Amino acid sequence: MCGIVGYIGKRNSLPIIVDGLKRLEYRGYDSAGVAIINAASEIKLFKKAGKIKEIETQIPVDVFDGNVGIGHTRWATHGEPNDNNAHPHTDMHNKFYLVHNGIIENYKTLKKKLSSEGYIFHTDTDTEILVNLISYNYINHNKNFEVAVRLSLCEVDGTYGIACLCVEDPGKIIVARKGSPLMFGVGQDEIIVSSDASAIIAHTKNVIYLEDGEYAVLRRNGIKLKTIDDEDIHREVQQIEYDLEQIEKSGYDHFMLKEICEQPDIIQNTYRGRIKFETGEVKLGGLASIKDKIFNAKRVIITACGTAWHAGLVGEYMLETYCRIPTEVEYASEFRYRNPIIRQDDVVILISQSGETADTLAAMREAKKHGATTLGFVNVVGSTIAREVDAGTYIHAGPEIGVASTKAFTCQLMSLVLLTMMIAKEKGTISEDEFKKIGAEIELLPYKMKQLIDKKDYFKYIAEEFKDAKNFLYLGRGLNFPVALEGALKLKEISYIHAEGYPAAEMKHGPIALIDENMPVVFIATKDGTYDKVISNIEEVRARKGKIITIATEDDDNIADYSDYVLRVPKTHDMLQPIINSIPLQFLSYYIATARGCNVDQPRNLAKSVTVE
Ligand code: F6R
Repeated sequence: MCGIVGYIGKRNSLPIIVDGLKRLEYRGYDSAGVAIINAASEIKLFKKAGKIKEIETQIPVDVFDGNVGIGHTRWATHGEPNDNNAHPHTDMHNKFYLVHNGIIENYKTLKKKLSSEGYIFHTDTDTEILVNLISYNYINHNKNFEVAVRLSLCEVDGTYGIACLCVEDPGKIIVARKGSPLMFGVGQDEIIVSSDASAIIAHTKNVIYLEDGEYAVLRRNGIKLKTIDDEDIHREVQQIEYDLEQIEKSGYDHFMLKEICEQPDIIQNTYRGRIKFETGEVKLGGLASIKDKIFNAKRVIITACGTAWHAGLVGEYMLETYCRIPTEVEYASEFRYRNPIIRQDDVVILISQSGETADTLAAMREAKKHGATTLGFVNVVGSTIAREVDAGTYIHAGPEIGVASTKAFTCQLMSLVLLTMMIAKEKGTISEDEFKKIGAEIELLPYKMKQLIDKKDYFKYIAEEFKDAKNFLYLGRGLNFPVALEGALKLKEISYIHAEGYPAAEMKHGPIALIDENMPVVFIATKDGTYDKVISNIEEVRARKGKIITIATEDDDNIADYSDYVLRVPKTHDMLQPIINSIPLQFLSYYIATARGCNVDQPRNLAKSVTVE
């Protein structure tokens, strides 16, 4: 949450920072601001509530023309999103300018200390406390910018990614990280700081990732990297693995639409080179080092948040059904707070698109503390979870910019299919025949997904019919229960329509009371072992006049008799069916939200990467 950009080099920093903020806006978009050191070595500050696109036109470019600057796009934690609470923040003496991502947990204690020293505060933010603490330490430690930042960070509890400027030391940006991602791109006589690679890629592919507890002093042509305990560090430059084109909209109205439509291509990146279609044999290179632990695991715990948690629920079903390994799925946000029983022979799987979700990261560290083997299913290459797990496999969905996760979900499902196949093969819990069938179906999957993308106008038409609904129910059973949860989450987060996902048979234990002629109910009713039961559940809703929308396979001749609307999907293997079934649900939520005039790429109150607890 919150995006940080910084620039130091020979070029005018403002357009680079503003462009970077636009790319990071998915991380938060309540307010934005920039601080630039201009040619006269003055620091100019502009910050405002609203989106960067609105704000950029108001910045007086003539006085913001300098080669050093920082910027921020905010997702509010402390203090409401208004002009005053926007970043950058400055200290009482206007000597330091700071952008911050994270939460300073002991800000009240620090505020008390500073207040007793005569410091006065003007905002509701924890960041203002930190910048004043830097100022205080500066005055008390021979006016040394670096020492002031380092000592201040030693006093801080909580999380931060920061970039800081000092009026009296204008040739530097100091950046630091603990719990909030930060990296910098190393160009020719210039450095670009960012919360992620998307703000850097237009300028260079060479990046250095900061680790927790580290800071860097950045000059135009020099980098000093240290721990906040004052130890020197050497870090190799790494390469960003994707291109600028992948983070552009490429003619689509929204990133979300682009990301839905590119799934047939993207899913191939998840399995390419990892499976032999003819035999169903799977090789996940990233897991080689912990293979024995996985094959001998007495139990698997999957932990994640939101959409990734839904993928985990599908994973639980697959690992138990096809590998016969007891599997539990935990909300990462709950996991460590309930004193979980974690054993050394447990395998704990962390699923995360961003690889930076604070709760998932904390769950991983908890699992490691107890000696379990940790395994990451992560999208963002080089992210914290990816770097800290014992072993992992990238899902290779490519950059996902739309706040509502779509292609990352289907690629997470595909990764879990591969893991299941790899384990099942070793343990002999699936027949050779079944393996071949799954392999053959994986090969066909992109074509089947493409058939659905080609039907988007029909999904749009259905969406128009339901755009004014006040509530929605999504029901499914077995592997399709998590798909129902995911369908409901997609709808509520981008259209603001209240939606609930439920196991279809549980409906009669409560939610059935909600059903009347105004309640649309989406049934995921593709043919599998629970099909007949789902039909009975549909009957129960029909009897109460609910509006029935079914996701059903193309060969289902009877379903139309039970439904008001049928969204037809190609039949595939049960394990792959959730991938197929998710696509019409993604379209439904996308088109309902756009019909209601919602900003689907930046839904209210949300941020793509939740790096605070
Ligand atoms: C919903 C969504 C969120 C994320 C959740 C976990 O569309 O995107 O629910 O799935 O915040 O994020 P990651 O996967 O980055 O750990």
